[in-house]
Amino acid sequence: MRDKIAAPAGMLAELTHRCPLGCPYCSNPIELEKAAGELDTATWKRVLSEAAAAGVLHVHLSGGEPCVRRDIVELTAHCAEAGLYSNLITSGVGLTRDLFEALVAAGLDHIQLSIQDAEATSADRIAGYEGAFARKREVAAWTTAAGLPLTVNAVMHRANVSRAGRMVELAVLLGARRIEVAHTQYYGWAMVNRAALMPSREETETAVAEVEALRKKHEGRIVIDHVVPDYHARFPKACMNGWGRRTLNVTPSGRILPCHAAAMIPGLEFWSVMEHSLAEAWYDSPAFNIFRGTEWMKEPCRSCDRREIDFGGCRCQALALTGDARNADPICHLSPDHAIAQEIAAQQAPDVAPDYVYRRMKTKA
Ligand code: SF4
Ligand code: FES
Repeated sequence: MRDKIAAPAGMLAELTHRCPLGCPYCSNPIELEKAAGELDTATWKRVLSEAAAAGVLHVHLSGGEPCVRRDIVELTAHCAEAGLYSNLITSGVGLTRDLFEALVAAGLDHIQLSIQDAEATSADRIAGYEGAFARKREVAAWTTAAGLPLTVNAVMHRANVSRAGRMVELAVLLGARRIEVAHTQYYGWAMVNRAALMPSREETETAVAEVEALRKKHEGRIVIDHVVPDYHARFPKACMNGWGRRTLNVTPSGRILPCHAAAMIPGLEFWSVMEHSLAEAWYDSPAFNIFRGTEWMKEPCRSCDRREIDFGGCRCQALALTGDARNADPICHLSPDHAIAQEIAAQQAPDVAPDYVYRRMKTKA
């Protein structure tokens, strides 16, 4: 079996679920892992070494906000020692100038900064944190001045979708080499807030066209990765590039997952870094093998000629919308459950400012 499975190329290290922001589309689970249960420094260093030994090239130091970990500089330095390319995925809030410089000195390779909107008031409301927008601009300036590559993450939803183009222009202005424009994926906190986050089909199509036009305008200046909104699509995305094919996640307490939302799938047994090496979990754990390849598929995926292109879509979305993670992702127009996705996409949100359930349970910004 092992010889048929490629080594993992990337690892998302969720160092903590703690975060000063409260974004209503956060991909962290509803049950956030507590600080008291987080892996200690020595264990994370061992896990990073195991990742390098298993073939991982890129490590995404993420959270929550990874900079709330007091050992973030030590862990970054360990990535460099282990030969791992390190990417800090940060809100920018909590990253001081001194800490930034220490991270650069420790060998940090890349910064990925989230931007909630192109307008400060709206951006801070979405983040649930006053002053976050200004802080992010400052962090972007430090990053480019230090010569570090900067990627901007922009999650699109009803409150900012009309400014999709302006967010791309802002990323260019900030000196980002890449922007990831990702329309909200609905699981975790985004599922809780779906009614407030879901834009209309017209708003979505306008935003997609606007971003695509800017791709041409800024060719050679910025790379635009565009994750299009799947609720309005005919085919699903190849979530995670296929289950257990390229990447793995380690949660703050050390559970090893095939994707960030996999813990929502009942009946899966996730191995822990406290009992198994990363390589053991990647190759041998039932949770990684259960949806590998195409053998597990039901119809219509099982006999579909796209089954090795999209791998039946997203397991977590199939579970969330149909109750069975083995079903075809209902985003697919060939799925017998496609009407579920269509009905949700057709729901028009009322024309008032969306009221969010913030992930830290804050009610108002
Ligand atoms: Fe993908 Fe399954 Fe739809 Fe075929 S039937 S396109 S494999 S989700
Ligand atoms: Fe889990 Fe798509 S988010 S498979």
